[in-house]
Amino acid sequence: MLKLTVLVSGGGTNLQAIIDAINDGRIKNAGIVRVISSKDNVKALDRAAKAGIETRVVSKKSFDSTEDFNSALISAIDEPGTDLIVLAGFLTVLPPELVRKYENRIINIHPSLIPSFCGVGFYGLKVHEEALKRGVRITGATVHFVDEGCDSGPIILQKAVNVLPGDTPEILQKRVMEEAEWKILPEAIDLIAGDRVRVENGKVLIGKAEEK
Ligand code: GRF
Repeated sequence: MLKLTVLVSGGGTNLQAIIDAINDGRIKNAGIVRVISSKDNVKALDRAAKAGIETRVVSKKSFDSTEDFNSALISAIDEPGTDLIVLAGFLTVLPPELVRKYENRIINIHPSLIPSFCGVGFYGLKVHEEALKRGVRITGATVHFVDEGCDSGPIILQKAVNVLPGDTPEILQKRVMEEAEWKILPEAIDLIAGDRVRVENGKVLIGKAEEK
């Protein structure tokens, strides 16, 4: 079984999508061993507790230095023997040593079709505000491996979502979550748990179930 540690900072709807997909068998051969939040008192923590998953809060502001925060976060991830780290709305920059240690074992969900509307400063509603400002007809979501850059790692799955007349950033954010994020994040985890994903020359190759 692939041991997942899910990192969150807020509402936890993507965490919920993963929990639901494990429970109804859309994700096979994986389980969440721990949920780590960068903030206390967020809904994601309630969702984890309700599902009987162990939680930890590792908040940057409760540490004196970045080094102390980094080592606390790394221990909290290492402890349960994590195989795959899932960033599900985690708003804190990861320690570079963690990214190196878990090369091609950290995935992130981003609410646009990378390489559009991504990189430094593109998170939350800002992504959808910029998409609307530019007048794109199609946006979507991307699941990608995390490297030392910002939203620059190998792309695993993407799903397009229409932008419709009258959309506000909030309406578009909700549609992107419902139609794309909550589907492709569990799908990507299932593919990885089924040992069907490999990275070659910075690109993801997805094999058939029987191939490796
Ligand atoms: C999602 O839009 C995700 O794409 C982004 O942060 C948001 C998290 O939402 N990285 P939630 O906490 O999963 O509800």
